[in-house]
Amino acid sequence: MLGSKKKYNGRQWWKEAVFYQVYPRSFRDTNGDGNGDLAGIIEKLDYLHDLGVDAIWLTPIYASPMADNGYDVSDYYAVNPMFGAMADFEKLLEGLHFRGMKLMMDLVINHTSVFHPWFLESRSSLDNPKRDWYIWRYGRDGHEPNNWASHFMTSAWEFDEKTNQYYLHMFSKEQADLNWRNAEVKEEIFQMVRFWLGKGVDAFRMDMANYLMKSESLPDAPRREGDTRPYVHGEGLYANQPGMRELLTELRSEVLDKYGAVIFGEMYFLTPETALEYAAYDQRRMDMLYQYEIVGARGDWEKVKKSVRVWYEAFKGKAWSSITFSNHDSPRPVSIFGDDKNARAESAKCLATFLLTAPGTPFFLEGEELGMTNVTYPDLASYSDIEMKTKYAERVSRGEDPGSILIDLARWSRDNARTPMQWNAETEAGFTTGRPWLPVNPNYPEVNVDFEQEDTDSVLNFYKKLIALRRKHRALIYGEYVPLTPDDWETYAYKRVLGADVYIIILNTSPREWHMKIPDELKNHRHKLLLSSLAPNSDMEEEFLLKPWETRIYKSS
Ligand code: BGC
Repeated sequence: MLGSKKKYNGRQWWKEAVFYQVYPRSFRDTNGDGNGDLAGIIEKLDYLHDLGVDAIWLTPIYASPMADNGYDVSDYYAVNPMFGAMADFEKLLEGLHFRGMKLMMDLVINHTSVFHPWFLESRSSLDNPKRDWYIWRYGRDGHEPNNWASHFMTSAWEFDEKTNQYYLHMFSKEQADLNWRNAEVKEEIFQMVRFWLGKGVDAFRMDMANYLMKSESLPDAPRREGDTRPYVHGEGLYANQPGMRELLTELRSEVLDKYGAVIFGEMYFLTPETALEYAAYDQRRMDMLYQYEIVGARGDWEKVKKSVRVWYEAFKGKAWSSITFSNHDSPRPVSIFGDDKNARAESAKCLATFLLTAPGTPFFLEGEELGMTNVTYPDLASYSDIEMKTKYAERVSRGEDPGSILIDLARWSRDNARTPMQWNAETEAGFTTGRPWLPVNPNYPEVNVDFEQEDTDSVLNFYKKLIALRRKHRALIYGEYVPLTPDDWETYAYKRVLGADVYIIILNTSPREWHMKIPDELKNHRHKLLLSSLAPNSDMEEEFLLKPWETRIYKSS
C-alpha cells in the first residue's frame, strides 16, 4: 500500500509527486492591492492541475510584518490579511484535495518576528517568564557576545537597550532566534504544528531544519584564513548541534506520525554521509532532504553532474532527496544555467528535461514552467529583498564601489525569483489590476501563460509533456541512475533503469553543437525516441549531431 510504514523505502506519494512552489505574494492578485493572495491561487488551481503538478509548496502565509516576506512570523495561527482569511486557506486546501493534489506548507520555527507577542514579552524584562524563549546574552567589553555573522552578513546579535542584553538573530534583526533548549518553546511549537495538521495539511518544508539547536556555550567562530570581516560564519556552532537529531525524532513521533504527515528539511552544511543521519529511511527524522547543491552550483554543469552522481550513490536504497534548480531565494535558472539572451526557450527545455528525469523529487518555482528570466531594475530602490539590501549596505560601509556592488548583487538577488507571475500580455502581465509590489519583468509580452498555452512548441507545453511522461514511466522516478558521459563533457547522458525498462536521456548543456557517438553498450539495441526538445522525430542513430541545448529521451529495447 502506498504510504505504509513498513514499505517506507518503497513507493510513496511524495517520491512520485512533482512539486510546484507558489510564492503567494507574486502569484495572482484578485483584489487589486498589488499583492498576490490566496483567492488568486484558488483561481489558478485548474491551471496547476492542467500543468500536471501533484503538490504545491506554499511559502509562508502566516501573519507577518513581511520584513523577510513572511519568514518573520508574528502569529502562527493566523493568515496574513494581505493574503486573505483562514476561510480562504481552507478553501484552497479543499480545492487542492478535490483535484487529488497535496499541500505542503513552510514551517518557519528557527525564529519568529520581533513583533511576535512571545518576543515582545521576552524583551520586556530580564525576569519575564518568556525571557528564556529566545537567546539573550550580555555583551563582551562593549561588543557583541560573540563574532557570529548572520546569514545576511551583519553581526548575528542585536543590542536591546532596555535590558542591556543582545538577542541572537541568524537572519535579519527583525527575526529573533527561538531558544529550542527551552521545553516550553518546543511544546508550544508542536501544538501549533498539530493545529495545521488538524486542518489537513499534507506536508511541511521545514525552514533551516538543522539550525534549531545552537551550541550551548555560544563561543566565537573560528576565523577562516584571510577573512578580515568583523563577523564570521560559524556553521559548526549552530548547524547540526547536539540535540538537533533527537528533537526531530520527537517531532516525528509526537506530532507528524499521528497525522500521517511528512516533512522535508531545508538543510545546509551537510555531506551525503551526515545527511543520512537525518534522512535515512531507518532514521526517518526527515522524509526527504530538500537539496541545495544544484542551486549552489551557480550555473556550473560540471558541478551539477558531480552532485547528482555523488548524492545518488550515497542515498541509493537508503534515503530520498529532492532535485531543484531554484526557489524563492535564488535567481531564475534559465538566466544562470541556461542562456536567457540567445536560447531562452531551448535552454529552459534542457533544464526541464534534466529536472524531470534525474533522480529525486522535482521542485520548481512558479514561472519556471514558462522559462521566466532574471530581471534588471535601474537602481537599488526598485529592489525589495532584505538580504540584498543588507549586504549592499555592509559592502558600501567597507568602501566598495556602489555601482559594482549593485551589478554583482542584482544577478543573485532573490527578487529575480519573486517578480510577479506572467499570466498574459495585458497590463502588469495580468498579475494585478493595481500596482504590483515588485515591478513585473518587462519581457512579459513574450513570456506569459496565455501566449505559451497557444504555442505547441512553448516551454510550458514542453513541461506538460515531461510531467506526463514522468508519471507514465515509473523508471524515471524509481529507476537506477547510470551516468553515460563523464562529468566534464558538455553533453550529459544517463540511463534510468527499472527492471527491464531502460530510458536514455541525452542533454546538450551548452550553446555549442555536439557530435555524439553512442557508447558501445548502447549499440545493438533499439532506442525509440519518446520526446525531444528540438530534433526531428527519429530513433537513435549510432552518430548524430546535437544542436545547442537540445535534449532527447529514448526508451531502449
Ligand atoms: C528561506 C529564506 C529566509 C530564511 C530565513 C530560508 O531558508 O528560504 O527566504 O530568508 O530561511 O527564514
